[in-house]
Amino acid sequence: MISIKNEREVAAMRVAGSIARTVLEEVAAVIQPGMTTRQIDGLAAAAIERHGAKSAFLGYRKYPCHICISVNEEVVHGLAGERRVEFGDIVSLDVGVYHGGFVGDTAKTVAVGGCSLEAQRLMDVTERSLAEGIAQARAGNRVSDISRAVQRYVEAHGFSVVREFVGHGVGRSVHEEPQVPNFVDGKSSPKLRAGMTLAIEPMVNAGKPQVQMLNDGWTVVTKDGELSAHFEHTVLITDGDPEILTWPMTTAFGSKGQ
Ligand code: MF3
Ligand code: CO
Ligand code: CO
Repeated sequence: MISIKNEREVAAMRVAGSIARTVLEEVAAVIQPGMTTRQIDGLAAAAIERHGAKSAFLGYRKYPCHICISVNEEVVHGLAGERRVEFGDIVSLDVGVYHGGFVGDTAKTVAVGGCSLEAQRLMDVTERSLAEGIAQARAGNRVSDISRAVQRYVEAHGFSVVREFVGHGVGRSVHEEPQVPNFVDGKSSPKLRAGMTLAIEPMVNAGKPQVQMLNDGWTVVTKDGELSAHFEHTVLITDGDPEILTWPMTTAFGSKGQ
């Protein structure tokens, strides 16, 4: 069953989404070469608390960190630890928060200080593929229209989409129906209706699409060791244009969340 959110629930999701994105932007803005991923997770934990929210990931299926931090060849679900990020690394940050009974889920990849032109192109194409997917998130379309738009854009630019992990419905829980793949497989997929809330999240590899999991049971890396990028928004299907719910607060960084 795909849940349809009413106006009151959508209002709560706007707040949760806005907090998630604000935390993401705040953390992204202060990452410096030499920081450990554990320090970055600590900054995220503090920001989530300051905004009166809770991590939606900590404890989810026993996930041990507040956000997901995936460096370079790490695709998603990277664990915070003693690894230090260096100038030239790219870091995928994925923030999920609970607020008012609802989840906001959003991600982006940023360079530490600066990065190679090829890494920058990977991030640009991934972010743009998310926009292409969001543009198809319209009532009357199908989930597969989103998937196709993402895949086409990514592959037209010479990169590949990850198959093993997908976007999803989001609401009272982090993962709800339906699945929102970043590729098409010919199977029929649900029709989009106003009031559905979806996390659209292309995971894009510079090389081959295959991934594997590290022994920590969480960190997903590219099999070929090439870079990977990840961008995500929580989006509301409406009778008109899609609404991005994970938009940062307009009160600028450092706000107390009022
Ligand atoms: N952030 C992931 C997503 O976008 C979910 C992470 S679950 C966790 O769907 F347990 F790994 F945190
Ligand atoms: Co996410
Ligand atoms: Co998600």
